[in-house]
Amino acid sequence: MSKQALESTAKDMVAPGKGLLAMDESSPTCKSRFDKIGVACTEENRRAYRDLLVTTKGLSEFIGGAILFDETIRDKTLAGTPFATHLAKSGIVPGIKVDKGAKDLAAHPGEKVTEGLDGLRERLAEYREIGARFTKWRAVITIGKGIPTRGCIEANAHALARYAALAQEAGLVPIVEPEVLINGDHTIERCYEVTEYTLRTVFAEIAVQRVALEGMVLKPSMVISGLECPQRADVQEVAQQTVRCLLDTVPASVPGVAFLSGGQSNEEATAHLNAMHNLGVELPWALTFSYARALQQPALETWKGDAANVAAAQKALYHRAKLNGAAALGRYKASMEKEAA
Ligand code: 13P
Repeated sequence: MSKQALESTAKDMVAPGKGLLAMDESSPTCKSRFDKIGVACTEENRRAYRDLLVTTKGLSEFIGGAILFDETIRDKTLAGTPFATHLAKSGIVPGIKVDKGAKDLAAHPGEKVTEGLDGLRERLAEYREIGARFTKWRAVITIGKGIPTRGCIEANAHALARYAALAQEAGLVPIVEPEVLINGDHTIERCYEVTEYTLRTVFAEIAVQRVALEGMVLKPSMVISGLECPQRADVQEVAQQTVRCLLDTVPASVPGVAFLSGGQSNEEATAHLNAMHNLGVELPWALTFSYARALQQPALETWKGDAANVAAAQKALYHRAKLNGAAALGRYKASMEKEAA
């Protein structure tokens, strides 16, 4: 796979006014989402819900790529088409989460390292065969007393870079996701410091492992106050600090930066992205969204596991995707929240 082909896939994923739909919840995460709406996390329900998401009419107006979980990429829509084929036919690039989750990091209490490098080359070849065109690997960095440590950040950055090089070797665009968690009472300044150090370390490892910057997408968290911080920074501050941090750390040849929502409310996640496009600062990369919760929440709550609610849930997803698509162009207005979905 040539660098040009990877670059062209990456550009399709983050085309102007489009972002990514993260729908790659592992089965335990899916269970915790379904528990909240009182739906049993059976294979049948997971399939019905994911069918609802991908068959939403017009979704490709705002969604350039969808990240699937292993179970879904091997599965078919209710109409009997493989999920990856359905997405590709709808003009949405199909992708796959390939990490094996964040596990306790030895000798580092309270910190995690993401596993999944063993056997990854073979798994990537299979995923490409069944239709994936990009991949995702998520690392988590926790802010707390005395953490994160250099050991944790370096271990995760190294794994991200090794993964990204293998994905590109297989002809798949890697989404590199170092998530600095929002949990805690830390200030936005502390989040800035940790995010800056993390991104610097990640891009240093990416250079060492010879990852082609033009053929990857970065999925960072925003620079934001911890959820329990007594004085949380406002929308403008989050936008300014996040853009400043990214400009200082992310090479201009990376085609796209697509944020995770990470526990922000739906409206906050949209408003923050929108504000970043209205700072009067020229951005070298496409700056967009790759949300799971902040895109799916209204649809999930409308669906409630009932086939009779599918059309209304799809309207809710379409509406949220449309608002985030507008935010990715800096054209979102809070008044759009009230428009009929
Ligand atoms: P959230 O938008 O819910 O944070 O999820 C994004 C994601 O893909 C986490 O890996």
